[in-house]
Amino acid sequence: MKIKNICCIGAGYVGGPTMAVIAQKCPEINVTVVDINENRIAAWNDVDVENIPIYEPGLSKIVEEARGRNLFFSTDIDSAIDKADMIFISVNTPTKTYGIGKGMAADLKYIELCARQIARVAKDDKIVVEKSTLPVRTAQALKDILDNTGNGVNYQILSNPEFLAEGTAVSDLINPDRVLIGGDIDTTEGKEAVQALVDVYAHWVPQKQILTTNVWSSELSKLTANAFLAQRVSSINAMSELCERTGADVNEVAKAVGMDSRIGPKFLKSSVGFGGSCFQKDILNLVYIAKSFGLNEVADYWEQVIIMNDHQKRRFASNIVKTLYNTVSGKKITFLGWAFKKDTNDTRESAAIYVADYLLNEQAEIVVYDPKVKAEQIYADLDYLNTRTEEENRARVTVVNTPYDACKESHAVALLTEWDEFTELNWQQIYDNMLKPAFLFDGRRLLEKRTKEEIGFEFYAIGS
Ligand code: UDX
Ligand code: ADP
Repeated sequence: MKIKNICCIGAGYVGGPTMAVIAQKCPEINVTVVDINENRIAAWNDVDVENIPIYEPGLSKIVEEARGRNLFFSTDIDSAIDKADMIFISVNTPTKTYGIGKGMAADLKYIELCARQIARVAKDDKIVVEKSTLPVRTAQALKDILDNTGNGVNYQILSNPEFLAEGTAVSDLINPDRVLIGGDIDTTEGKEAVQALVDVYAHWVPQKQILTTNVWSSELSKLTANAFLAQRVSSINAMSELCERTGADVNEVAKAVGMDSRIGPKFLKSSVGFGGSCFQKDILNLVYIAKSFGLNEVADYWEQVIIMNDHQKRRFASNIVKTLYNTVSGKKITFLGWAFKKDTNDTRESAAIYVADYLLNEQAEIVVYDPKVKAEQIYADLDYLNTRTEEENRARVTVVNTPYDACKESHAVALLTEWDEFTELNWQQIYDNMLKPAFLFDGRRLLEKRTKEEIGFEFYAIGS
């Protein structure tokens, strides 16, 4: 079976970059990305390709090349479904904020809406690919809905988890460590569907890196990969606290440990805590699934990764308060960075949000500079916590356009995102314009302690 038309429902951080790369690498396939969010689709179609809604290094160039040729962005979901042989579902699956599984289970309402829409519209056989991170067994739920509400056409459900990391999405998509495709490999139709998706990726990914498994292994592999990665960060963050007490340095420990080839050097960077749309959500999901099978020890084991991460964020914030003579009330604290990591404008679960919330509860005034995050996003992130009124958030948090404005007359600077540009700032100028003593808290181990102390900063870094 040769795929000619792909539809992707959801034009977000996963759907957008993934479809742009598929369109670039498969010029004979028409790829249409649809979304209910009209503003988002309008931004993807902006004549100035630099205005696309997602910032990822290298993405705008690919969109420029493929858009209008075989890559289209639209709000006409029905007609894109109708035309497609293969439909990717890339909608968001946030943690539930209500009802059973609140704060833990993934909210599948967006997925279910998609399934019902596909079932209503489809007039011929379709391959449906789950691309969002989903709890194990979602494929079965999708199949139930499609088979029971559809127009009598046949569906094959595939699981094709996304392993791209934001900030490096384009290179991760072009050179993936592996592509994982789960399907009903016990039936001929299932095998054909899996092969059809293998053929799409085989345009640019070597066959030996394309793994095919049953659906459940594929779904669970994604949760497992993210749980293992997050666990490494929580493990090194746990050590960072011990380093601070003992006089060891967490970077030195990480280097020594990472040179053991059985352990490896990646994901051992101590930080103010991991963020992003996946780690916390996927682990909570794993915990919820384990609990639902009565596997309490398994659930507790993985939950500890989250507990450690929450502790790290709180610890960073409370250290600021303690260091500033136990009060930040009315003091100006500058945040350098708001995104959950560098090279993305995504802020979901960013540590900065929680550190800010903590300091606002201590009555601090916060000024934020982030090179890619817009003010409205920063306020939306704080409003979402519901800790205080929207008016208060706007009165107490200011967002500015340059790091120098942000640091002027502040009591302390907290570095929350490891943007490259922060290493090249004129730190002498920043120091000169701050109140004294000038405190600098490095939540990312980005800055060199010696040169900052020579300037005169009171310098604190995670893990040393
Ligand atoms: C992650 C997975 O890496 C990716 O495979 C999956 O598809 C989605 O989830 P992402 O959340 O985009 O990707 O970013 P990632 O690079 O994994 O970083 C997650 C968080 O951990 C960030 O806040 C980052 O700053 C933090 N981190 C990462 C550390 O604090 N230390 C590290 O050593 C690595
Ligand atoms: P991710 O990181 O998983 O890509 P995003 O939130 O960036 O998550 O993107 C998900 C997109 O899916 C959003 O733009 C949202 O508007 C879109 N979406 C959610 N539900 C539907 C739906 N039923 N039909 C079409 N688009 C949807």
